[in-house]
Amino acid sequence: MSSSPLLSVRNLEIEVSTRRGPAKVVDGISFDVERGEALGVVGESGCGKSITTLSLLGLLPPGARVSAGFALMDDRNLFTLSRPALRKVRGGRIGMIFQDPMTSFNPVLKIGDQLIEPLVYHRGLSRAEAWERAGELLRLVGIPGGEARLDNYPHELSGGMRQRVMIAMGLACEPPLLIADEPTTALDVTIQAQIVDLVKDLRARLGMSIIWITHDLALVSGLVDRIIVLYAGKVVEEALVDDLYAKPTHPYTRGLLASLPTLEGEETRRLPAIGGTPPDPGRRPPGCPFAPRCPLKVELCERAMPPLEPVDGRNSHRAACWVTTGAMEMAA
Ligand SMILES: Nc1ncnc2c1ncn2[C@@H]1O[C@H](COP(=O)(O)OP(=O)(O)O)[C@@H](O)[C@H]1O
Ligand SMILES: [Mg+2]
Repeated sequence: MSSSPLLSVRNLEIEVSTRRGPAKVVDGISFDVERGEALGVVGESGCGKSITTLSLLGLLPPGARVSAGFALMDDRNLFTLSRPALRKVRGGRIGMIFQDPMTSFNPVLKIGDQLIEPLVYHRGLSRAEAWERAGELLRLVGIPGGEARLDNYPHELSGGMRQRVMIAMGLACEPPLLIADEPTTALDVTIQAQIVDLVKDLRARLGMSIIWITHDLALVSGLVDRIIVLYAGKVVEEALVDDLYAKPTHPYTRGLLASLPTLEGEETRRLPAIGGTPPDPGRRPPGCPFAPRCPLKVELCERAMPPLEPVDGRNSHRAACWVTTGAMEMAA
């Protein structure tokens, strides 16, 4: 018998209040994260990646709320936990790495004081024990000098080093799930690759599950096992990485892959990106939200949202497109 997923999100809907009333920014998202699995969440800016994961941590911004769905972890619905229980989940069961470590660190506290906080809070270590463990963590994430760095303030480190410290903080209590929200976007390309390699290596050693959020498919393809593609608050395709590359099925995924820079000999060529922009959450069309930008759209696409259908008869690979999955013929 296979064990149950570490995390199961079902029919998640998130509403934000806008001047024109409530807008559904996440619209019925479902996904699982298996134990030890690395899941990539990919999509353009504004498609709901951050807000989806913030909801799991009870960290939605004011004005945003979960309006439907549930998220099961450790046999509990994360959306109905008390505040103290949520605090235990954050850091203890789910570690987080965000895009900009500068805004996530307290600028007036030493790195060491910030690193020991979760160890003291979640693990009940003494300050001295936690300090020693914090030094080990810095070495684990490849910071030369290890504990000597604990006395530094955040501004004394380079961007790449700060991101490593943030990873150390996310992993401090060895949570079974690490959520990384575009953690390398602010860094230059070489450092980005180093951070991805570091997380890959840590995952091999510690065996945690990962949700890695990005708008950069190429960056994560070597790190994650499976990818879900979000568009306008919906899952439009999900597949194992190799299957997604071998047979991208949703026209949006095809567009994302076509706009990846391709390496041809010495030359890097950037193919044209998808034209247009995603619809405003308050004004989404009744049918497929991608229809206004879609080169393959037919009349049905503007009337009805296509269901997620298996691709080549496999349930591990599904896409929501009337045209490319053959769902239109089946519906006819
Ligand atoms: N605090 C907020 N108030 C209102 N709308 C928000 C807020 N935060 C995010 N949104 C909206 O929710 C949608 C999803 O945002 P987000 O999850 O940040 O996207 P992503 O991380 O994919 O770029 C966007 O349309 C964004 O404008
Ligand atoms: Mg985001």
